[in-house]
Order: sequence, then structure tokens, then C-alpha cells
Amino acid sequence: MSNTNLTNSKQAKNDEFYTMYEDIENELQHYPGAFEGKIVYCNCDNPEWSNFWKYFHINFDHLGLKKLISTHYDREKPTYKMEYTGGDDNNVEAGVITPLEGNGDFRNQECIDLLKEADIVVTNLPFSIAREDFIPQLFEYKKKFLIIGDLNWVTYKIIFPLLKNNEMWMGYSAVKEFLQPDGTIKKFGNKLWFTNLDIKKRHEKLILWKNYTPAEFPQYDNYDTINVEKVSNIPCDYCESWEVTEEEFKNFPSDEWEITRTGERDGKKSFFIIPAANTKLRKLLHEHTAGYKEEIENKLLKYLKKKRYCNGIFGVPITFLNYFSPEQFRIVGNEYSLALDKGRGYVHGKRMYSRIFIQKIL
Ligand SMILES: C[S@@+](CC[C@H](N)C(=O)[O-])C[C@H]1O[C@@H](n2cnc3c(N)ncnc32)[C@H](O)[C@@H]1O
Repeated sequence: MSNTNLTNSKQAKNDEFYTMYEDIENELQHYPGAFEGKIVYCNCDNPEWSNFWKYFHINFDHLGLKKLISTHYDREKPTYKMEYTGGDDNNVEAGVITPLEGNGDFRNQECIDLLKEADIVVTNLPFSIAREDFIPQLFEYKKKFLIIGDLNWVTYKIIFPLLKNNEMWMGYSAVKEFLQPDGTIKKFGNKLWFTNLDIKKRHEKLILWKNYTPAEFPQYDNYDTINVEKVSNIPCDYCESWEVTEEEFKNFPSDEWEITRTGERDGKKSFFIIPAANTKLRKLLHEHTAGYKEEIENKLLKYLKKKRYCNGIFGVPITFLNYFSPEQFRIVGNEYSLALDKGRGYVHGKRMYSRIFIQKIL
């Protein structure tokens, strides 16, 4: 990429961070077969210098692509689309250029038409309009994507539910450096890949080895959950409350059982219950005495027709999402979605930052 091209770039400065070729290569190695027979659209990429264009052009045959399309944005004047369907992979200037009527804004109808034609969008997008426009548009048109984003997105109202509901997830690598229009390097500590393409790590379970002790995993002050400082410390044996439906709870003696929070089961209200304070079972639960779970569940079975599961919630750092397999865990919410005290979780009065709440799938 020549400096002149970069310096000539007229777009808003805070969106002008260009992705390095090696970072694209590093991430793309984890998607074997995903691009075969596909149309890839890089919709924030000037083929004169975009390393996304370059990567997919050079690897066109190797990836088995059907077509590569790029469009790019200019604030002041119309731009063009460039399309490549193979035959001269190493010559990145090979491709058909067609002028666009507009300025290449990914929201323009002509760009949306290209989006409709495409299978997978791969790019590093303007961070400033990512959440309002770019990501909702990908979902509106039901597109596969692999994009560079920001760790902070995880807390956004638009994005968190997508992560929670397994509609998008984190890719593999962090992207630490970008090139700026003046040729200098800009370092970031929070940029990474997001995708909805299936990847191996989504099916790899964390090995849990740590045993639960109340001292090491304190309760939140304002939510029925335990705090886990490090993802690698998620305890393998923690279970704290038992879920019963509202109907079933009517059979339980209210002096023996206590509701800790409400939930939803098969569209109906449910309660998470534990043995009541001052009971022998509560003492067993509190102290996590050997066999406590079996003893409590034996008692529970007196009031239930079939065995219920117990399922503790863990508050973990958001970096957990890097290791998240939906086959092992489900995401319950974050501080905002759970409407904790002004979006804040506290442990012993101390604010816990950037947490999400998860449950093991039993
Ligand atoms: C973070 S840069 C990344 C550029 C390139 N994709 C790369 O990875 O090197 C985001 C680019 O999106 C462009 N852009 C800004 N607003 C846009 C819009 N509405 N539509 C399309 N591109 C836009 C910016 O000019 C900028 O070049």
C-alpha cells in the first residue's frame, strides 16, 4: 500500500485503521473449507490497498472461492466496485471495475444488492458505526461474516443478545496493530474477530479442575451467583440452587425451602430454591459438606415427580467468551441485561467490572 494512497484518504480519521496481511492470514487459517464455492464481499475495502482484497485474491483458488467483491467509501465522490472470479490470483490488480452511482457507503442500495448476492462478508469495518448499522444489516440480510471488532461490543445492547443466543461469537485471534493513513502503526489492546462461521473451538470444552469452596468463590451481594476471578478457575463441582416450576413449588413446605430467584421454564414461571435458613440441609449446602448435593436432591425428590437439575451461576470475566462452547455453558446475561444495580455487580461491596453470568449445561 503506498503512502500517497493512504494520505489521500479523505475519510474520518478515527475510522482509518488498516488491517495487516498477517493478521488476516493468522485468523483465516482457522476456517478450513468455510469459503469453498462462496462469494466473499469486502464492503469497506479499497482494492488498491486493502489487505482483505489482497488476501482473498491471492488465495482465491486455494480457498475455492466463487467470486470476490469489494466496495469502498469516499465521503465526497462516487467510488467503484471491483469483482474477481479467478484466473490470475497473484496479480491483485486483476478484476473488473464498475463505477458505483454513490460513494460506496455499505448502507447504499447498490451495496446492499451486492450484499444480497454475497455469502460471506469479511472486513474490518468503521468502528464508529458498527453497532448501529453494520451488524444489524448483516443480520437483516442473514449473512455469514468474519469481521474485526472491539471487545467492548460485548456490553452493547444490540450485540450482547447475539452473543448470548449463539448468533455470533468470537474468532480466534486478537488484532494488536493497524496501519494508519500516515503510514504509522496504531496499537490496540481490545480488537478481535467476531464471526458466525462455525469454528472448531466452539466445540471444545474447557477442562474444569478446580473444586468449589465458599471462601474462594464469594457470592455477589446483589445477585444469586458466585464470582470467579479467572476463567481457568471455574469450579467443576459448584451447584447452588434447584429449579422448580411455580406449580411444583406448591407441594413444598415453605418453612423448609426458600426461593432465591425466579426464572422461566418452558414458557412458565419457575423458582430457584434452596433449603431454608436454619435447616440442616442449608448448613450442608453452605459448608458444601461431602455428599450435600445428593442429600438435598433426595429430599427434593419427595416433592417432585422426576429429578430436577441444579444449576449454579458463575460471574466470570468477559474474556470467557474466548473459550465459550455452547455445548458446555449457556450465557445467562450481563450486568445490564440482568438489571443489576445500575448495571453493576458487587462482591463484598466491591464493584466487579466487565462480567458476564454463565451456567454450566448439565
Ligand atoms: C477500520 S477501516 C478498515 C479498512 C479496511 N477494511 C482494512 O481492514 O484495512 C474502516 C474503513 O471503512 C470506511 N468507511 C467509513 N464509513 C463507511 C461507510 N459508511 N461505508 C463503507 N465504508 C466506510 C473507512 O473509510 C475506512 O477505510
